[in-house]
Amino acid sequence: MQRIICLVIIITFFCGRLAAQPVYKDSGAPLEERVSDLLRRMTLEEKIMQLNQWTYGRNDNVNNHEKAERQVDPTIGSVIYRSTSPALRNELQRRAMEETRLGIPILFGFDVIHGYRTIFPIPLAQSCAWDAELVREGCRVAATEAYLTGIDWTFSPMVDVARDARWGRVAEGYGEDPYLNAVLGTAAVEGYQGDDLSQPYNIAACLKHYVGYSLSEGGRDYHYTDISGQTLWETMLPPFEAGVAAGAATVMSSFNDISGIPGSANRYTLTEILKEHWGFDGFVVSDWGSVEQLVNQGVAADRREAAMKAFMAGVEMDMVDNAYKDHLGELVSEGLVPVGNIDEAVRRILRVKFRLGLFDDPYTPELPEEDRYLLPEFRRAAERAAAESMVLLKNERSVLPLTDPAARIALIGPMADERVHLMGSWEGKGLADDVRSILDGMLSEFGPDRIMTARGCGFDGDDTSGFDEAVRIAAGADVAVLCLGEMEHWSGENGTRSTLALPDVQERLAAEIHRTGTPVVLLLSSGRPVELARLESLADAILVVWQPGTCGGVAVAGILSGRTNPSGKLSITFPLHTGQIPIYYNMRNPARHNQGLYQDIPSAPLYEFGHGLSYTTFEYGEIFLPETVFSRNETITAEIEVRNTGARDGKEAVLWFVTDPVASISRPAKELKHFEKQDIPAGESRTYRFEIVPERDLSFVDARGGRHLENGEFILTVGNRKIKFELTD
Ligand code: NOJ
Repeated sequence: MQRIICLVIIITFFCGRLAAQPVYKDSGAPLEERVSDLLRRMTLEEKIMQLNQWTYGRNDNVNNHEKAERQVDPTIGSVIYRSTSPALRNELQRRAMEETRLGIPILFGFDVIHGYRTIFPIPLAQSCAWDAELVREGCRVAATEAYLTGIDWTFSPMVDVARDARWGRVAEGYGEDPYLNAVLGTAAVEGYQGDDLSQPYNIAACLKHYVGYSLSEGGRDYHYTDISGQTLWETMLPPFEAGVAAGAATVMSSFNDISGIPGSANRYTLTEILKEHWGFDGFVVSDWGSVEQLVNQGVAADRREAAMKAFMAGVEMDMVDNAYKDHLGELVSEGLVPVGNIDEAVRRILRVKFRLGLFDDPYTPELPEEDRYLLPEFRRAAERAAAESMVLLKNERSVLPLTDPAARIALIGPMADERVHLMGSWEGKGLADDVRSILDGMLSEFGPDRIMTARGCGFDGDDTSGFDEAVRIAAGADVAVLCLGEMEHWSGENGTRSTLALPDVQERLAAEIHRTGTPVVLLLSSGRPVELARLESLADAILVVWQPGTCGGVAVAGILSGRTNPSGKLSITFPLHTGQIPIYYNMRNPARHNQGLYQDIPSAPLYEFGHGLSYTTFEYGEIFLPETVFSRNETITAEIEVRNTGARDGKEAVLWFVTDPVASISRPAKELKHFEKQDIPAGESRTYRFEIVPERDLSFVDARGGRHLENGEFILTVGNRKIKFELTD
């Protein structure tokens, strides 16, 4: 009898325990069951709080004006976390976990765009390295530093295919080609998220800005975009589709008004394409204030209507403008927003929180700064990324590398001893003091005795008082290294410029230095391609260093000395003149050959997509195809042998393009379909392969998203080699 009583007591105790432990708190329960269980327990107010994001801490970005510093309500869905303190973040999280009815963790987000504290080159630069692994590695480092601060979610990668470099945000993406953006965007998602979001050091990615933001008219940020169905499907959507397929946890809706229906109120793109067609099961966050900005765009009379339109179109989380918080409750009670939609939106947000493991392990380790940031291996990765992304545009009479041990170097220009501008926009929590300037790098690479330096002029303005000193040291040197470029806020968000040219004062300094007769190496640091119409002839060598980040100065010096052989190639066209915009490599053929040219300037770009020199030379063999006629179900393996014919080891990125000369709709003159970078020691050859899958690589998409594979002739181009083949049934 006693035994039976004991058993009853034990069973009752465990049943009680089980009943007391809600399913959503049970880490062993299936994720969707946990979400459903939690949803069932939530009030409408609690649900609506999950749909809002606030910002916490000092707002460093002038474009993101906060209305007021708000105390964080612990029932909020997400917070943009600007502090670098993991302890503070854990305290906020503790309040959410312990002082709220249900204990739902807060999602802490931040713009970790090209590094958190260790700053990598801007994404545009990284894309010139043609190396997905390099992007993945950079994002892993960034995720690690962010995670150790308590950031769960980054608003990156930006995969807006950008072809108008007046638009300052060209710096934040991976150049002008959709395929390249798709491959590198995928690598970024994998780098941030790892294999399993719930594991330490992994953070959620956010594909942005969905969609078409880069087509803002005149390159003017936040402006209207007129996007045809063809451009949408062919150019703008593919990188997002690839990122979703790679498992990106979230997507950010864009500011732009897409042909009359803004990105943040566009049911077609947000719901039909993203969720119904691609099966995206994460959530969409609006861009900063893009819900209430629907009023400015003239599709909502007030914030209430804006909230309704954005929400019903498929934006689940409202970034900072509180339109959802203020209005969704009344919209539900008036029957204008169904509760079912609220539940579905909350489900998506909770799903990401569960995937991140935040319910089971809501806190981040609290390590001292020196164990979180700028670890030696992080710096090494940043230096490698910087070195691989720099592009040697020109190198006449092999002025580079500077191998003469006795040569005296005049280091001139406003960028020579700069730190903050080398980081570029969206520098996370990077500090100028962490950055090695070009001068720092040159001093340690070449020794102080060989370097003379003068600023010459500022970035703009008309002060030429420093010219004389710059000319004097250039005249007394064996080579002048001229460091010109853009200040960090000239590109990035709201960094619109009417011209890609550098201010006149910098061009005039270049002319003065050129006049000395000393060979000139021009280093260009910028967040966009620069108009070189007047500068090109003033320099013997031109190295684009972009905004190379924390270790940029060391990487530059390594290329100048020859310690590193440059291997970057342009992922974006360098126009000769700003007036050539739009100009990109995969334009469609015009109706008349050799007509429609500019009357006043050349029509060709100065440096094409894919251009980039090395200190060695590479010779491409013929493209090899096993046959010239293929059936549409076959996989075709194309090969090319590339030989390093110079005296130095080098790396060569091989870019494979396909042309479809005749189709039922016109096709771009050529399209990038594959790339690969390999090391090739001096005197050796390497084989590069492209597995052509016809359905993937030879088909095209129409203006409604339909995919077509048509038989007929195709042309494969690699470097200066071409081969034709035919596709049949
Ligand atoms: C506005 C920018 O457009 C977006 O890219 C960024 O992620 C958010 N602000 C948050 O800072």
